[in-house]
Amino acid sequence: MPLTAALMFLINGEHRDSLPAGDRGLHYGDGLFETVAVIDGRPQHWQAHLRRMEDGCVRLKIPFPGAAMLEDEFGRLPSPAGRWVLKIIVTRGGGGRGYRPPPVVQPARLLCQYPWPDYPDDRAVQGVRVRLCTTRLGSNPLLAGIKHLNRLEQVMARSEWNDPAIAEGLMLGLDGNLVSGTMSNLFLVSQGRVRTPGLSQAGVAGVMRDQVIEACRRLNLPVETGAFGVKELQRAEEIFLTNSLIGIWPVIEIAGASGGEMQPGPITRTLRTHMLELEALPQHG
Ligand SMILES: Cc1ncc(COP(=O)(O)O)c(C=O)c1O
Repeated sequence: MPLTAALMFLINGEHRDSLPAGDRGLHYGDGLFETVAVIDGRPQHWQAHLRRMEDGCVRLKIPFPGAAMLEDEFGRLPSPAGRWVLKIIVTRGGGGRGYRPPPVVQPARLLCQYPWPDYPDDRAVQGVRVRLCTTRLGSNPLLAGIKHLNRLEQVMARSEWNDPAIAEGLMLGLDGNLVSGTMSNLFLVSQGRVRTPGLSQAGVAGVMRDQVIEACRRLNLPVETGAFGVKELQRAEEIFLTNSLIGIWPVIEIAGASGGEMQPGPITRTLRTHMLELEALPQHG
């Protein structure tokens, strides 16, 4: 039976749905998360998700719960057929009032089971419309790249629009350069080169972004990471977005920008076909 509306939480290995009110994840966003696509019981790109979470734990000085523990707990969730979403949250656990971390940290682990989002599957083929958000992403090399729990910038950006025809919003950093979508990484294709914003100041080092970069290398497509502004966006021949759940979404229109509608381009399609063959995307066919 595919998972429809049910939610299951495993908190520190126990089936419950609440955390102690003193948890630092709630008070300070003091923690990390991963959103993993699960297909027929198999978590996709599992090692890459674990690596990013471990790297985030090292950078935030939170003890990493360990792959074995997370795998064991994943195995204790119901395993419905088809696609579902696993969200893993690790926080620094409880602590007294005040920012100072407790001398002995006992991290909290949450495994949350969610239904697959109801995105139309044809978005991967037909493409999506996006908008440029006015909310900007702050610069902070200390936090850039990791998937920490502080996501207020994304919450503010996502509250900028309600139009269901707009699938995603693009975000700029304080310097006016592109960083990412609110929930995705951004790629531009210009003169055969695949470009994606560098993540030294802001943004999340997406698991799917790495998969796409890897696929470009295999296909001998030159990849550039760097600073790209709105001009480069408007001049791009192809634009696409990535994350672990959407895979690759071609962008066919930037609402409000001149230039009108585009078609999903040949490099985006080649990457998608190649990655589908490798079963690196969460869609079929
Ligand atoms: C802000 C942000 N950037 C990028 C991504 C893409 O990350 P991933 O490819 O690991 O899903 C996400 C995913 O949720 C995100 O929230």
